[in-house]
Formats: sequence, structure tokens, C-alpha cells
Amino acid sequence: MKIIIAKDYEELSAKAAEIMIGLVRQNPKAVLGLATGTTPLGLYAKMIADHRENGTSYVHIRTVNLDEYKGLPKTHRQSYAYFMRKNLLEELDIDLNHTDIEDGMASDAETECARYDAVLEKFPRDIQLLGLGSNGHIAFNEPGTPFGSGTHVVTLAENTVKDNARLFEDVSEVPRQAFTMGIRQIMQAKKILILASGANKAEAVGKAVKGAVTELVPASVLQLHPDCILIADRDAAAKLENI
Ligand code: GLP
Repeated sequence: MKIIIAKDYEELSAKAAEIMIGLVRQNPKAVLGLATGTTPLGLYAKMIADHRENGTSYVHIRTVNLDEYKGLPKTHRQSYAYFMRKNLLEELDIDLNHTDIEDGMASDAETECARYDAVLEKFPRDIQLLGLGSNGHIAFNEPGTPFGSGTHVVTLAENTVKDNARLFEDVSEVPRQAFTMGIRQIMQAKKILILASGANKAEAVGKAVKGAVTELVPASVLQLHPDCILIADRDAAAKLENI
């Protein structure tokens, strides 16, 4: 794993944007695996600014997202589909029909997981962007998820529900289940870019980078990926001093 320590969130976002925009310019037909959460917001703002100022085009780009809350429609403000449209996709020249995410309202979860598995198979990702849960989760793959997993429905860990409650009016509104891309599929991306910001991620970053590769720390699997870059700001990198 290549590790970049940024002095702050601004620098983290700038370095991530350099990688993502560089890839889009180099391969205008790239498939991007995208992520939600607050961490990629700075990167997304820079992608939008670059698109407006420098004309980087997303006309032939495809995107697939990591995860979606089960039970939230695409129009719900806390759904990840809504988040992606508002914070990135609607601001680019991308064809929204070429942007995929699990359907939180699918009537049959098994069929939806199979549909998404097929999408991921059909469009191999050139890059997969990841955030990091404070318990070491990636996408919604909670500790204990088999490394071989494909798209599946998860019951969220109690601390994930608490962490994510800040974006809802009340913790009781946070869905308890979600669809997520599996760890096997995350690992299939040609390149992985994982971002971590803030002191509450330091423990998880330390375990992911320096700890044992174990299903108990989902992000530790990234040590096995041939082209994975972690960008952490100083607070998130606090446990990596001797690296
Ligand atoms: C959620 C998402 C993850 C994300 C994590 C961290 O649980 N499912 O994909 O990485 O939150 O979010 P944040 O970047 O807001 O800390």
C-alpha cells in the first residue's frame, strides 16, 4: 500500500483530485467506483471545479457506487443516490444513465444483489474510491464480512448507525440495513484510492495499514491489493508515525 500523509483535509482532497482527474483525462472512458460519506466531499468539489474551469469531460465515463441504504428511495435526501447526484453527478456532463448504484427500494433483495453483481462484472472499475468507517469498515462491509463476499445486504453495526446518525434528524431514522458491494469486488478494481480524515479514523487507519490482515478489520484486506493508495491527513495518520 502506498501511503500519502497530507497536512490537512484540503491537501488530502487536492491530492485525491489529482489522481482522480488525472485518470479521467488519461482514460475518458474510465469506469469509476465512487463512494459516499463526508470524506470525499472535498474531492468531489474539486472535480466539479476542474470540470467547469478546465473542461475535463465525463461524457464517456461510467460510475458505480459502493452502497445504498435499504428502504430509502433515490429521492430521499439521505439516500446515497441523492447524495451522489447533488454532490457530484448532476454537476458534471456525465450521462446519468451511466451511473449505477444499488436500488434501496428493490422489492427482492436477492435479485437486486444479482443485478448489481452483473453490473460490476460488466464494467470493471479502473479505480475504486473508498472512505473508512471508524470500525475499519469499507463500503458497508462491517467487521467479520468474508473477504470473498459479493453484493449483499448487511445489518449495520451499532457504531455505524451512530456515526451516520449525524446526517439524519434523529438516530431512529437511520436505516438498519443496507446493500453493499462486497470485499471481493472492491479488490477487483485496478486501482484503489482510500481516504481517511480526522482523529476518529486514526485507530482504524493504524489497524488497516499495520495490523494483521483479518476479516475483523475489513480495510486490512487492502494490504493485499497491488495498487492501493491511502491518503490520510495528519490526524487520521496519528498511529502511523514510524512508517
Ligand atoms: C459510511 C459509508 C462508507 C464510508 C463511511 C465513512 O458508513 N457506507 O462508505 O466510507 O461511512 O464516512 P465518512 O467519510 O463520513 O466518515
